[in-house]
This record gives sequence, C-alpha cells and structure tokens, in this order.
Amino acid sequence: MNVNYFSNAEAMSRSAADIVLEEVRRNPELLLCTATGSSPKKLYQILAEENRQQMSLFQKVRIIPLDEWIGLPTPEGSCHTYIDEHILRPLQIPIEHYFGFNRDAAQLEKECGRIQELLHREGPIDVCILGLGKNGHLGFNEPADVLQPHCHIASLSPQSQEHSMIENTPSKPTKGLTLGMQDILAAKKIILVVSGEGKEKATQRLLSGDISNDCPASWLSKHDNVDCLIVN
Ligand code: GLP
Repeated sequence: MNVNYFSNAEAMSRSAADIVLEEVRRNPELLLCTATGSSPKKLYQILAEENRQQMSLFQKVRIIPLDEWIGLPTPEGSCHTYIDEHILRPLQIPIEHYFGFNRDAAQLEKECGRIQELLHREGPIDVCILGLGKNGHLGFNEPADVLQPHCHIASLSPQSQEHSMIENTPSKPTKGLTLGMQDILAAKKIILVVSGEGKEKATQRLLSGDISNDCPASWLSKHDNVDCLIVN
C-alpha cells in the first residue's frame, strides 16, 4: 500500500484527483467506482474544475456506485443524489454510462444479481475510490465474522446509521446495498481517501498490516495497487 499523509483535505484531494486524472487520460473509457460521503467530496470538485478546463474529459468514463442506502423516504441523502450532484452533472457523464443501483427495487436480492451481472459485463472496476468508515468499513461491508464477496444487502452498523449523509432523514435506514469485498479487491487500482474525525483507530488497524474481518479495510493490504491518502 502506498501511503501518503497530508496536512489538509485540499492537498489530499488534489493529489487524489491527479491520480484519477492520470488514469482517465490513459484509459478514457475506464470503469470508475465512486464512494460517496465527505472524504471524496473535494476530490470530485477538483475533477469538475478539470472538466471545465478540458471539456469531454470524462465523456466516455463509466460510473458504478459503491453503495446505496435502502429505505430512505425521499431521494435526499441517497448515494444516487450525491453522485448526480457531485459526479454525473459536473463531469458531464452521459446517463447511459451510469450503472446506478435501484434502491426502490421490489426485489432487492434480484437487484443485487443485476448489479453483479453488470459488473461481470462491464468490469472489473478500473479505479475504485473508497472512503474509510469509522469502524473500518468499506462501502457497507461492515465488521463481521464473515464478509460477503459480492453485491449484497447489508445490515448497517450504528456508525453507518449516524453518517452525515442521512443526518436529516426522519427514520434511519437499517439496510444498504453494497458491492462486496471481492468486487472491491478485484479493482485494478484503489484510491482510499481518509479524512474526518474519529478515524484514528480504523486508520491504525488499516496500516498495521494485520488482516481481520472486524476491520474490513484491513483487507486492502492484500491488494498490490492501493494509494492511501490520509489527512492528519
Ligand atoms: C459511509 C459510506 C461509505 C463512505 C464511508 C465514509 O457509511 N457507506 O461509502 O465511504 O461511510 O464516509 P465519510 O467519507 O463521510 O467519512
């Protein structure tokens, strides 16, 4: 794992954006998996600025979300709304290049199957942008005895239910859709951006090199192309 420290989120995001831009320039059709949340927000803003300088930079890029909340009463706070606002519209990504999850699907198990087929057809992921959960989760792969390899319906930890994206929702979701650990680890390149309070313990676990399911992010040490960018 290539680990770099930054004194602020601006510098970290600039560096992460440079990595994404290099990959997009090398492969303009790449499949980009995008985490939501606070950590990558500035990174997406910088990509949007680049896109304003060089129109159509992202025109052929394909986007797959990392995860999605289940059971939100309105689109507010959803990963789809975030991706639309911070990625699809500012980067001018055609809607047919977006492989969003249907959080309202009547049969969510079938939706997981659909996403898995899609990943089989379009994948593997070329670049996967990840954030780190306070409890060491990746997407909604929460600490557990057994981690799921593929897209599944996850039971959310109390930490996930406290996440700022859903702070204004009247009732907290208890479940989420997420790509699985094997889907994430099959990505050719992973960019993990770590910022925000309360992540010290999870970061220590991640960097210790010890792998265990009670810190899903620790599995990233098994991958040979991870850039980990940390604000400290
Ligand atoms: C959330 C999301 C993840 C996100 C992570 C960190 O629960 N499910 O996709 O990457 O937690 O979020 P943040 O960057 O806001 O700390």
